[in-house]
Amino acid sequence: GAPVYISPSILSADFARLGDEVRAIDAAGADWIHIDVMDGHFVPNLTIGPGVIKALRPHSDKPFDVHLMITPVDPYIDAFIEAGANIITAHPEAGPHFHRTVQAIKARGAKAGAALNPSSSPDMIDYVLDELDLVLVMSVNPGFGGQSFIDSQLRKIETLREQVERRGLSTIIEVDGGVTPGNASACINAGASALVAGSAVFRGGPDLYRQNIQALRG
Ligand code: DX5
Ligand code: ZN
Repeated sequence: GAPVYISPSILSADFARLGDEVRAIDAAGADWIHIDVMDGHFVPNLTIGPGVIKALRPHSDKPFDVHLMITPVDPYIDAFIEAGANIITAHPEAGPHFHRTVQAIKARGAKAGAALNPSSSPDMIDYVLDELDLVLVMSVNPGFGGQSFIDSQLRKIETLREQVERRGLSTIIEVDGGVTPGNASACINAGASALVAGSAVFRGGPDLYRQNIQALRG
């Protein structure tokens, strides 16, 4: 079938050796590097900011797929792009002016994504879908790695795939949360073309990264 991008989430990496971990998943066949940014406010956890992303940038040439779980978003867009983000995905639930956020990301030369929480409808992005490079379907409530996949999100992927096809768009549909070799093909069959995986990639340590990534390709 069509190529599937695998974007390992470094939230499950060893934070004491983050540069080495990014090198290891790059060498193991990761297509993108997924970086989860949390503010302890939009989501109940704190992770990393632009300084760490900038420090990681020399360790890989793969696209940095930066998932912002923060509010507000707009004051930080420049900092994330300057740090080396290639794709910036923000949540329309995080503020009232998501269209403005999308325009700001694209104006600065990055790809723009919309992330939808499990309870959010695709209708929320109906009027910006044509502007988006990517939609990120959250298959867990954002905040932590290692949670279980919420099956109801498969129908959301199908709905988004239909809308993208009907409009003749090339929008990438990416899935994030609880993705494993056991449900990856269901995600792909529903219409996803990019998969985020944290615990399923990093489990077992660096010797297993290559086979863990391969097992997700369906
Ligand atoms: C959840 C993050 C995810 C998370 C995925 O808030 O957005 O990217 O790291 O981890 P797993 O694959 O372990 O669910
Ligand atoms: Zn994420």
